[in-house]
Amino acid sequence: MKASFAEMLATARREHYAVGSFNVYGYETIRGVIETSRDLGQPAIVAFGAGYLPNMELDEVAGLVTTMSAQVATPIVLHLDHCKSFETIVRAIKAGFTSVMFDGSALPFEENLAETARVVRVAHAAGVGVEAELGALAKGAHSNEEEGEEIYTSPAEAERFVAETKVDALAVSIGTVHGMYKGTPKVDVGVLKKIAAVCPIPLVLHGGSGTPEQIILECITDGIAKINVNTEISMHALDLIRAHLGSGGETHLSQVGRLTVGAVKDVVGKYMGLFRNA
Ligand code: 13P
Repeated sequence: MKASFAEMLATARREHYAVGSFNVYGYETIRGVIETSRDLGQPAIVAFGAGYLPNMELDEVAGLVTTMSAQVATPIVLHLDHCKSFETIVRAIKAGFTSVMFDGSALPFEENLAETARVVRVAHAAGVGVEAELGALAKGAHSNEEEGEEIYTSPAEAERFVAETKVDALAVSIGTVHGMYKGTPKVDVGVLKKIAAVCPIPLVLHGGSGTPEQIILECITDGIAKINVNTEISMHALDLIRAHLGSGGETHLSQVGRLTVGAVKDVVGKYMGLFRNA
């Protein structure tokens, strides 16, 4: 069933677990996330990145997720991930998304604050939740996200930003990367602790793929209530498809679709179990 972003994440922060936010690009990935939520009895966030608009239109994503989430008893949120355009955010709200992320992380602080507050006014009037981002993640391997210079989130800025914008969740930059790590992750849990001490709202960890379990568990203990996973879903599905195609037998495109659903379920299931274990 469709659920409220703000309530889902506020409960997670209060009860010290995280909800997985899994990126989808089409029917198979959406089905993989929702079926895993049903099978494991866990809430899930189906995240559609604005960068995947060439794959699917917003109302098509909303139609599929609304239909499929009505078939399961677990809470499902449909979230617009990493969107820099106010106009696209308004279209997502009209299409039936339950939450949106306004990504003003590349803007100067005051501009990010003002634009985020504008998004919050419009979204909250429609009963839609908002995530914003302060600081910026670096780009790792196998990611199709934009190249970015890593900037850690300032706790003092985060405190003012949250109080003035009234966002429902804040994505922080503490050393995780979008994509797989090229070396050893340098996650600064100390910065997270300082942010969590002054920001009572649910905090969001982007760049979940490949982050060591111990770091994930520490982050959940220290205020992270939503964790985003994208690259690992794509990599695992491609590995299975490559092995299948390389095995030499005859195949059919419909079989590749079913393999994709199974691959999504493997990765989503692994992370859902971990996020609940903190
Ligand atoms: P990964 O691709 O590193 O899992 O990051 C996903 C993400 O943060 C999407 O917003």
